[in-house]
Amino acid sequence: MKKIIVAIDGFASTGKSSLAKLLAETLDYTYIDTGAMYRAVTYYALQQEPQGNINQERLILNLDQIKIHFEYTHLDHQTFLNGVNVSKEIRLSQVNSEVSKVAKISEVRAFLVSQQQKLGVDKGIIMDGRDIGTVVFPEAECKFFLKALPEIRAKRRQLEQIEIGNEESLASVLASIKERDLIDSTRIDSPLVKADDAIEIEVSEKSLEEVYQQLHEHIIKTIS
Ligand code: DC
Repeated sequence: MKKIIVAIDGFASTGKSSLAKLLAETLDYTYIDTGAMYRAVTYYALQQEPQGNINQERLILNLDQIKIHFEYTHLDHQTFLNGVNVSKEIRLSQVNSEVSKVAKISEVRAFLVSQQQKLGVDKGIIMDGRDIGTVVFPEAECKFFLKALPEIRAKRRQLEQIEIGNEESLASVLASIKERDLIDSTRIDSPLVKADDAIEIEVSEKSLEEVYQQLHEHIIKTIS
């Protein structure tokens, strides 16, 4: 079967990464979590500033100091920043609240997009993010765009946060999700929009299994 590029874009907490991981495992493809790359850059920027306020100019000047790589174990995806495993740190609430602001910076986007394009050179990848089907791989053979009601996504995000020991009220998670949606969708550089040729899936009422089947079926049709 031919190897292709699968782009899964959409709003935060719609299950993109769970789906991408499962599909990558079944198809023996490489999974790339581009959100983790924006998170790693954000974590780096926060580490540079004692007050925890990101200095945009300094971050842009230091971009060439940032090396991100992934390591894989069975269904597990670890993110490394300059050789250090930061998989847990990049999910902290401080990163959650700053990452959309960092992802708006054009220099950061250009820096990460070129790395993402290199990772996809041999195809056989499933990449999830916000601009994969529109900017990173406009030529991707399969494109999906996932959306769901903010309340449902907030519940999911709250459960994920509890799993990593981060208690947060539903109201606060919902507010942060809405703020990130707004920043991601209205930024000037590569806003979160559906690619014209992406398949849009509203997942609010669907189980992960149902969405997985839908994506899997479409991918198999494309590669057979
Ligand atoms: O998917 P996530 O929640 O880990 O993404 C973190 C942030 O990074 C989110 O605010 C959107 C941004 N992002 C982006 O702008 N482009 C991508 N390709 C992936 C993520």
